[in-house]
Amino acid sequence: MKAIRFDRYGAAEVLRLAEVPVPGEDEGEVLVRVRAAGLNAADLHILNGVPYVMRPFQLGMRPRVGGVGSDFAGQVEAVGRGVTAVKPGDEVYGRVDQRGILPAMGAVAEYVRVSADSVRLRPAGLSAVEAAAVPLAGATALQAMRDVREGQRVLVNGAAGGVGSFAVQIAKARGAWVTGVCGRDKVAMVRSLGADEVVDRAAEDATRLRPGFHLVLDNGGDHSPSAWRQVLLPGATYLASFGRRQDVWLGPLGRLLRMMALNLVVNQRLAPLVAKPSGADLDALTRLIEDGHVRPAVDRVFPLADTPAAVAHLAGGTARGKVVVAVEEG
Ligand SMILES: NC(=O)c1ccc[n+]([C@@H]2O[C@H](COP(=O)([O-])OP(=O)(O)OC[C@H]3O[C@@H](n4cnc5c(N)ncnc54)[C@H](OP(=O)(O)O)[C@@H]3O)[C@@H](O)[C@H]2O)c1
Repeated sequence: MKAIRFDRYGAAEVLRLAEVPVPGEDEGEVLVRVRAAGLNAADLHILNGVPYVMRPFQLGMRPRVGGVGSDFAGQVEAVGRGVTAVKPGDEVYGRVDQRGILPAMGAVAEYVRVSADSVRLRPAGLSAVEAAAVPLAGATALQAMRDVREGQRVLVNGAAGGVGSFAVQIAKARGAWVTGVCGRDKVAMVRSLGADEVVDRAAEDATRLRPGFHLVLDNGGDHSPSAWRQVLLPGATYLASFGRRQDVWLGPLGRLLRMMALNLVVNQRLAPLVAKPSGADLDALTRLIEDGHVRPAVDRVFPLADTPAAVAHLAGGTARGKVVVAVEEG
């Protein structure tokens, strides 16, 4: 089968279209013929091999992962013994099983082999391209918005990004008043997601907004947690997904330690957002989509052979929503 692979760290140019064996499904596993695969910021970390501190522990001094894409939508080709939830021919979506704290990769390929709990039937009304945009970013946003209650004020920094575009919609579905913060070119898009207020980060410093937020989800990383505290209510929560602006050696580690120390002495909760994959989250996302509360925002779709261009586009930071690779032609 065709699959996108890399064997040295670097930018998008190190990716190549390779011919590799089709994986065989084992007990409890599902083999999926991939129609489309979604890219995430995590793909860039794994491809670039940053932060460097992760290489000896997780990534490998030479790439251990070797593929990109954790999210996919496609058709079940075969199921292993014991799998009853899906059958060959079903249209499904899901995530490649996670290894350690990093999402596993390799969905940008003609086939993926995953555990049965990592796939669900594709939500009614979504194309394969749209469904492939959902799993990682959608689950991360869902977990970030889990405790949001009706009438609360929620701020999403990086609201036009993969995680942010889901977070805005999920917070609205929970009845919150939502402020989205994004770059100038993305203001209209964030408004179209349902945000009640949109802040153009170039025109206004969102950490100086009127205080009163119950939750800030920070996907941007352009201000410190202590700056964001200025807009939080007492007892409110700041969740850091840490954003792209990271130290190449240590990643978010220095910031995380400072934030944890600050968290001990302030009357708000400052916490890292570490999304854990689960089949239950896919169920919840399916319900939100089928009830009309969430629609994946797909920025651009690239053919399989153009995956390096897709990754470069994601890395450029101009995407509005998700970047997806159409693995299947037509
Ligand atoms: N903790 C977890 O479990 C978890 C899970 C998923 C993702 N994440 C992290 O959450 C963050 C957001 O993920 P995402 O999928 O939403 O990423 P994304 O789609 O790239 O969006 C992030 C936003 O950051 C800004 N941005 C993009 N490129 C940038 C660059 N080169 N420099 C500075 N800002 C840039 C953009 O906003 P504007 O142009 O509007 O400023 C963009 O909309 C990432 O850092 C990712 O690693 C964490």
